[in-house]
Amino acid sequence: MDRFVFRYIYYLLLAAASLLPHAYAYFKVTAPVQGTQWVNGQTYPMSWIKGVMDGVDTFDIELSRLSKGGLMFVAKDVPSVTGTINLAIQDVPPADDYFLLFLNSTHGVMYGNSPQFSILDSSSTANSSNPSPESAKPTVTLSGGPNPTAVFATTFPPSVNGVVGGWDAMRGWTSLVLGLLSIVTLGVASGALTVL
Ligand SMILES: *[C@@H]1O[C@H](CO)[C@@H](O)[C@H](O)[C@H]1NC(C)=O
Ligand SMILES: *[C@@H]1O[C@H](CO)[C@@H](O)[C@H](O)[C@H]1NC(C)=O
Repeated sequence: MDRFVFRYIYYLLLAAASLLPHAYAYFKVTAPVQGTQWVNGQTYPMSWIKGVMDGVDTFDIELSRLSKGGLMFVAKDVPSVTGTINLAIQDVPPADDYFLLFLNSTHGVMYGNSPQFSILDSSSTANSSNPSPESAKPTVTLSGGPNPTAVFATTFPPSVNGVVGGWDAMRGWTSLVLGLLSIVTLGVASGALTVL
C-alpha cells in the first residue's frame, strides 16, 4: 500500500510538472529557426507556440540585430492564438545576425525571441530560402532598415483579438481536462501495476 501511494504521488508530480510549463510562462519561436535564410522580396512564416493560460493574449513583434542597435517594428497587437503570421520583406539590409523579438513594447516585457537567422539580398539564390508562407494566416510587410521614428508596419485590430480570445480560453480548458485525465489514468495504471 505504501508503494502504491508513493508511486501515485510520483506520477502525480510528473503529470503536474508536464502541465505547468504549458499553462504558465512558456513561449517558443518555431520559425524562423537557427540558420534560416530569408531573401528580400519573398514572404516567410513567423511561428510560435506558447502557454495557453499565461494571460498573454496579444504581443508585438520586432526585428533586431546582434551586432547593431536599432529595431524594426514588424507588427503590433498580434493575437497570440494566431500561431503564425507571414512576413513579406523588402529592402531589409542583408545581414546574418537578425533575430525576432516577441514582447509587449509598451512596458518592454519580453515573452520570447527567435534564434539568429539571415536576411539576404533579393538577388540571392540561397538553398534554404524556399518561402513557405501559410496562406490562411495574415501577412504583414516590412520595408527598409531601422528607423527611430518608424511605427509598427501593421497593427492588428482589437476585434480580431476578441474573437480568438474565446478559442484561447477553450484550448486552455481542453489542456486542463487532458492533463487531469492523464493524472487519473496514470494513477489507475500505477495502482494496477502494484496489485499485479
Ligand atoms: C502591453 O501592456 C499594456 C499594459 O499592461 C496593455 O494595455 C497592452 O495591451 C499590452 N500590449 C499588448 C500588445 O499586449
Ligand atoms: C548551398 O549549398 C552548397 C552545398 O550544399 C553550399 O556549399 C553553399 O554554401 C550553400 N549556399 C548557401 C547560401 O547557403
